[in-house]
Amino acid sequence: CGIVGYIGPREAYPIIIEGLKRLEYRGYDSAGIALFDGTDLKVCKTKGKVVDLENKLPTDITNTGHIGIGHTRWATHGVPNDVNSHPHYSNSGNLVIIHNGIIENYESLKKELINRGFTFKSDTDTEVLVNLIEDVKNKENVKLGKAVQIALNQVVGAYAIAVFDKTQPKEIVIARLGSPLAVGVGKDEFFIASDASPFLEYTKNAIYLEDEEMAIIRLNRDIKIRKIKDDSLVDPYVQTLKLNLEQIEKGGFDHFMLKEIYEQPKAITDTYRGRLNRQEAIIKMSGVEDNMKRFLNADRIIIVACGTSWHAGLVAEYIFEDLARIPVEVEYASEFRYRNPIITEKDVIIAISQSGETADTLAAIKLAKSKGAFVFGVCNVVGSSIARETDAGAYTHAGPEIGVASTKAFTTQITVLTLMALRLARAKGTISSSDFRHHLLELEMIPKKVEKVLESNDHIKYIADIYKDVHNFLYLGRGYNFPVALEGALKLKEISYIHAEGYPAAEMKHGPIALIDENMPIVVIATKKGHYEKVVSNIQEIKSRKGKIIGIVTEGDVDVRKLADHVIEVPETLESLSPLLTTIPLQLLSYHIAVLLGKNVDQPRNLAKSVTVE
Ligand code: G6P
Repeated sequence: CGIVGYIGPREAYPIIIEGLKRLEYRGYDSAGIALFDGTDLKVCKTKGKVVDLENKLPTDITNTGHIGIGHTRWATHGVPNDVNSHPHYSNSGNLVIIHNGIIENYESLKKELINRGFTFKSDTDTEVLVNLIEDVKNKENVKLGKAVQIALNQVVGAYAIAVFDKTQPKEIVIARLGSPLAVGVGKDEFFIASDASPFLEYTKNAIYLEDEEMAIIRLNRDIKIRKIKDDSLVDPYVQTLKLNLEQIEKGGFDHFMLKEIYEQPKAITDTYRGRLNRQEAIIKMSGVEDNMKRFLNADRIIIVACGTSWHAGLVAEYIFEDLARIPVEVEYASEFRYRNPIITEKDVIIAISQSGETADTLAAIKLAKSKGAFVFGVCNVVGSSIARETDAGAYTHAGPEIGVASTKAFTTQITVLTLMALRLARAKGTISSSDFRHHLLELEMIPKKVEKVLESNDHIKYIADIYKDVHNFLYLGRGYNFPVALEGALKLKEISYIHAEGYPAAEMKHGPIALIDENMPIVVIATKKGHYEKVVSNIQEIKSRKGKIIGIVTEGDVDVRKLADHVIEVPETLESLSPLLTTIPLQLLSYHIAVLLGKNVDQPRNLAKSVTVE
C-alpha cells in the first residue's frame, strides 16, 4: 500500500492526490483521502484506482485545507470495496488513520473494543487500530502521540501509519514497523509518504523512520522522533536525496523484478505472519480451520494452476504427499478443464494464482465446483475473481508484483502451501510433534537464509556474463527441486529469450543428454539432502560430455565443487523447504542474463502479467 500525508501552508489536496498516483505501483485496488478544511473532516474513498477517487470528488475542489492524508491500497484484510478502503476513522469521528501492513491480533483487540461499546463498519484491521487509539486516548486522558504509542505497544504485526485528530489539526502522528515511511522536510511544512516520490519536487530533505519508531509532526515546530517501546528520543537524521523519481519507485533497484527478488525475505515473513506461532507450536489458517473436515475427508487433492503458479503446485505435491500423506495431482488448468476430468464431491481442488484472474484457472474452478468439489484458492490479489469464486482460501501476502516474470509470488505460494500441508499433517497425525516444531523453526529461519543467498548476487552476475550468449540452457533437479529446475528454465525463457529446459536429473539420460557438448551450460540443483549422491552421478555424466556445470549446492559442499565449473551456495535447510532457497539464484541468473542482453526485464515481449484470455 502507499501512504501520503501533508501538513503545511499549501493546499493539501493536490499534493496528496498526485502523490498517490506516484505510489500506485505499491497497490491499486482502492484509494482514499481525508482532508480537514478548518471546520469539517472530508473523507472520500473508493474501490479502484486513484483516478476513480479523483472522479468521485468534485472537479472544482478547492479550499481543501492544509492537513490531509491519503492511501492507495493493496488489500490484506477484507475485499477491496469502498467501506474497506482507507482512511478509516474512529467512532467519535475525530481520529482518522491510514495504515499499511497487517495487525495480527486484530480479532482479539476488536472483541475487547466491542465489549467496551465500539462499533465497526469495515472488516479491516485498520479500523480496529484507530479505535484502539481512541479508546486509549480517552481512557488514559493523554495526547494523540502518547495514545498511538500505548496502542502500538498492544499490537502484534507490521505497520506504517499516519493518524491525525480533527480537533488538533496541527499535528500528524506517524509510526513504522516493517513498512517504510519517509518524511519530507520543507520550509514550515512536512510531507509524509511510503517513499520519497510524492514529495521529491518539493523537497530533497528526507527523514526515513526506522522500525519501531514513531514521529510527532507539528506545524511550525520540528519533528519529534521516539522509540515506540521505551519512549526514548531519537535524533532525526535528515538525508539529502539524490535519486530520481523512477529510481525511487523501484526502491533504488534498476527493475521491479530485481526489487521483487530482494523483497522475498519480507514477503515470506508477511505470508507466515499471524499464521505460524512457534512458541505455541501451532499453525492457524482460517480458511483451513473452517473447512478441516473437507480436507480430512478428501480422497485426493487436485491442484490447478498455470505458469509459475503451476510450478508452485508441483512443489506442493511433494510437500502434501510427504507430510500430510494426501494423494495430490497437479494439473495445468487449461488441460484439466478441457479433458472431461473425473471429479467427485470428495475431491479438494486447490487453485493457485498470483493475479487471481487467469482465465483458464477460473474456468477450471467453475468446472470443479459444478461437480461438487470443494475449491480452495491460493491467490495474491485480495478480492480477485478467483478469490471470490473459490469456497475458501488463503492469501499470499507478497504485495503487488509488477515484474511480469513471477518471483516473490512463487516463493510465497510455496510458503502458504507448506503451512497448509503442515497444518493438515498435524490434524491427521502424520507428523510427530517434534518434527512439526522443527519445521516451524526452519520455516521461520527461511527469510534470513534467503537474505544470505541474495549476497551471492555479484557472483551470479559474473556467471551470467560468461553464459549470456549461449542459445540453450538445461536445468536439472530431483525431488522437491525438480519443479525448481522447471521454474529456473521458465524464468530464463521469459526474460532473456534463451531456450531452456527443465528436467528431472535422472531423466537426462533418456534424451537431453544428447544435447550436451562443451557449449551447453547445465544448472544442477544439488543440495545436500535429496538424493545428493545420485545428483553427483548425474553431474559426472555431464562432465564426461564436457557440459558446463553451474551447481546450486549447500554451504560447505565439497563433492560438487570438485566437478562443477561454478557453484552457488545456499544455506542448509530441510529438504521440503529447500525450493525457497534454491529458486533465488535461478531468478538472479535469468535476471542478470536478460539485463546483460539488453532485454526488457519487467515487460518481456509477448507476455502479460495477467492472462485473462483462454
Ligand atoms: C502469466 C504470467 C506468469 C504467471 C501465469 C499464471 O503467464 O506471465 O508469470 O505465472 O500467468 O498467472 P497467475 O496470476 O494465475 O499466477
